[in-house]
Order: sequence, then structure tokens, then C-alpha cells
Amino acid sequence: MGAVKDHFETLYRKHADPWHVASAWYERRKRELLLATLARETYVHAFEPGCGAGDMTRRLALRCTRLCAVDLASSAIGRCRARLAADGIRHVDVMALDLPHDWPPTPADGFDLIVVSELAYYLDEETLAQFLSAVDASLARGGELVACHWRPDFHDRRVSTDAVHDAMAALPGLTLLAHHYEAEFRLDLWRRQA
Ligand SMILES: C[S@@+](CC[C@H](N)C(=O)[O-])C[C@H]1O[C@@H](n2cnc3c(N)ncnc32)[C@H](O)[C@@H]1O
Repeated sequence: MGAVKDHFETLYRKHADPWHVASAWYERRKRELLLATLARETYVHAFEPGCGAGDMTRRLALRCTRLCAVDLASSAIGRCRARLAADGIRHVDVMALDLPHDWPPTPADGFDLIVVSELAYYLDEETLAQFLSAVDASLARGGELVACHWRPDFHDRRVSTDAVHDAMAALPGLTLLAHHYEAEFRLDLWRRQA
């Protein structure tokens, strides 16, 4: 097992919800804000990298015909799958992959929504560049890219939230639709030109 995978797997084995994503007010408020920021009511095929135990996944699934949810940690993937099954949700493909070295199958026209929430600051600069290049190649024309990340520093952060979001903003053909900036997090929504 790689060091990064091992790190996240250990966190999930110690605690089913290491960041209190289900219960913390910060997480619940931010999730509602992100979901309310998405410009369209529904999407055809969305991609959620770093889905964790599926708190956002369950909500996104209600707005997507198909959803691909990926995480590095198999414990998180197991929990995500179990929660979706308990909800009776069957149109989500849940995969254990080490992004961006592994990448899920991309629809021919690309994903029309990609949700990057509390993930990209864990990637070092080189891996972040590879990740963004894969995001770029996977985003459909007219598709939306939303990113949301905690701003204060923490021990396993590799790049700043502003550096992540500024690098995303520089991807070709994106128009900024919404920008939310506060002490604890930054949320941006872009649409790729049709
Ligand atoms: C802080 S949690 C965020 C979970 C969820 N996106 C959210 O916003 O609540 C970060 C997640 O990213 C996953 N992750 C970290 N690096 C990854 C990588 N290289 N590939 C796939 N998943 C990764 C971790 O296992 C963890 O579940």
C-alpha cells in the first residue's frame, strides 16, 4: 500500500468519519452551499473524486442520471457503497482508485459535472498538475467544475487552497459562475464553454 493510501486508510479505520463530515456544522453548511451553487438542477453524468464515505455522493446522486464516485481509501469506499445501497441508490459507480494515476472511465462527451471537495490540497504540485490535466480532459463542453476547500493550514496539506483554485481557474475555456470566499473555505464554480 502506498504511503498516501495508507495514511487515508488508517484514518478511516480509526474513525468511520475522520473529519465529521456527516455531523460538523462547517461540513453540513458547506455541503448545502455547494449543492445550492450548482447552476443546473440535474446533470447527466457527474464525477466526484475523493468521495469519502459518501455524504456528498448521496445528495449529488439525487441530481444526476449517473454518478461516478471515487476514493483512494477502500474503507471509505465500502462505507459509501453500503450507504448508497441502504438508500436504494443504484445509479452510482463507486470505485477505489488512486487519482490521478488511476482514472475512471470517462463518458465519450465527458462528465457534465465534476465536484472537487476537500481533496486537491492533499496532492503535491506535480500530482496536482496531473490531476488538473485529467480533469481538463474529462470535463464536457458546457460542463461545470466546482471546487470547495478549507483555507486554514493543516499538517497534511501539500498546496494552498488559493493555489489549487487559481490553477483550476487557469484551465482552458472556463468561465467563473460563482465565487464564495470566507475565512474557513473557498468555493468556486466554473462552466466550460459549449
Ligand atoms: C477530507 S476528505 C473529503 C471527502 C469529501 N470529498 C468531502 O468533501 O466531504 C478527503 C478524501 O479524499 C480522499 N483522497 C485523498 N487523496 C486521494 C487520491 N489521490 N485519490 C482518491 N482519493 C483521495 C481521501 O481518502 C478522503 O476520503
